Amino acid sequence: MIRFEEIKNDFPMLSQTMNGKRLVYLDSAATTLKPTSVISSIRKYYETNTCNVHRSIHSLSEETTIEYEATRDTIQKALNAQHREEIIFTKGTTESLNLLARSLGDHILKMDDEILLTELEHHSNIVPWQLCSERTNSKIKVLPINDSGDLDLTELPKLLNNKTKIVSLSGISNTLGTINPIKKIIQLIREHSDAYIIIDAAQMISQTDINVQELDCDFLVFSGHKYYGPTGVGVLYGKKKLLEMMPPFHGGGDMINVVTFEKTTYNDLPFKFEAGTPAIASVIALKKSFEYVKSLGKENINKYTKELFTYLKSELIKIEGLKILGKPQLQAPIVSFVIEGVSNQDLATLIGMDGIAIRTGHHCTQPLMQKLGVSSTARIAISFYNSKEDITLLVAAIKKAKEMLS
Ligand SMILES: Cc1ncc(COP(=O)(O)O)c(C=O)c1O
Repeated sequence: MIRFEEIKNDFPMLSQTMNGKRLVYLDSAATTLKPTSVISSIRKYYETNTCNVHRSIHSLSEETTIEYEATRDTIQKALNAQHREEIIFTKGTTESLNLLARSLGDHILKMDDEILLTELEHHSNIVPWQLCSERTNSKIKVLPINDSGDLDLTELPKLLNNKTKIVSLSGISNTLGTINPIKKIIQLIREHSDAYIIIDAAQMISQTDINVQELDCDFLVFSGHKYYGPTGVGVLYGKKKLLEMMPPFHGGGDMINVVTFEKTTYNDLPFKFEAGTPAIASVIALKKSFEYVKSLGKENINKYTKELFTYLKSELIKIEGLKILGKPQLQAPIVSFVIEGVSNQDLATLIGMDGIAIRTGHHCTQPLMQKLGVSSTARIAISFYNSKEDITLLVAAIKKAKEMLS
């Protein structure tokens, strides 16, 4: 039995105050807090293990290279990837998607080919494809959502044809919390096109177990910092034969085999896509976050956060004038809302004075905001280090702020 109430002790940030009040952190879709094991790992690298990886043959570098590569093994296992070299370290989801837009998109797309996205996407799964479509004269199509905030899957077959070369979509919406039925969607795409399928798992990684072979996605990307790990490191998973077919993204050290001024040959996977000195401490520490989550179990985590989330929503709907946006069939513990006559910005500022951290704004999903008919929302994202008391404090603070602002 995991005692989630005691888990706050693993997160030094939660012993902080904000504006003189105990910090209540409800912004975990933006970034998650880091447990002591992750922080200690980063500290260890800088205090006693500093060196570069894959280059020097002194034992410090050899040991650190082993630790660095061990993270790749851990992630391969966690995602059930077939080969360890299918795990590429990047700076994060955004860089992984830009890599794909360049190395896959630019490589395969011809004039009038189509890229399919969805209305739920984060800007980092929109803008790289727009840049790519400008470079390749290809077109972007968009799968709409319905009134509940779920993808309208009846539209999906109509949007797929033999020109559809790439479909890139998020597993979970960072704004509405919608959990997309990814497996079913991938099957539908495969039935109607030969497109390469990319899953933006930035939010999904912390919510569901991911088995890339079972899903049969071609690529899957996420950021370490949304999985209790450090910033500056992310992952691109790709099927080996596709990664082999793709040209490199960045040029530089480590990604080469032989360099002459006339021609360069490239290193094998995964190094072909890992140019330059990587975020060594962050990659090593990312293993600790995978181990930490595994020790809790995603099923236990979900059971606990679901209870908190149900409590949160039951309290929010009691607040007069508060409108929750979307009512997806399956929802991660992320919810967006607006309050009639109250500016989101003012609300976040006021409840921030009570020590409560939530996110307001467009959440990097401006097209979704347009669809919802709002310019911004307030968003609450729960994690397993939150407690029922956090929710009670939040709801009281919202009520107090509303009184003051309306
Ligand atoms: C669904 C989704 N995709 C992509 C991103 C971008 O992630 P990062 O800023 O870590 O690259 C985010 C971040 O909020 C996200 O929620």
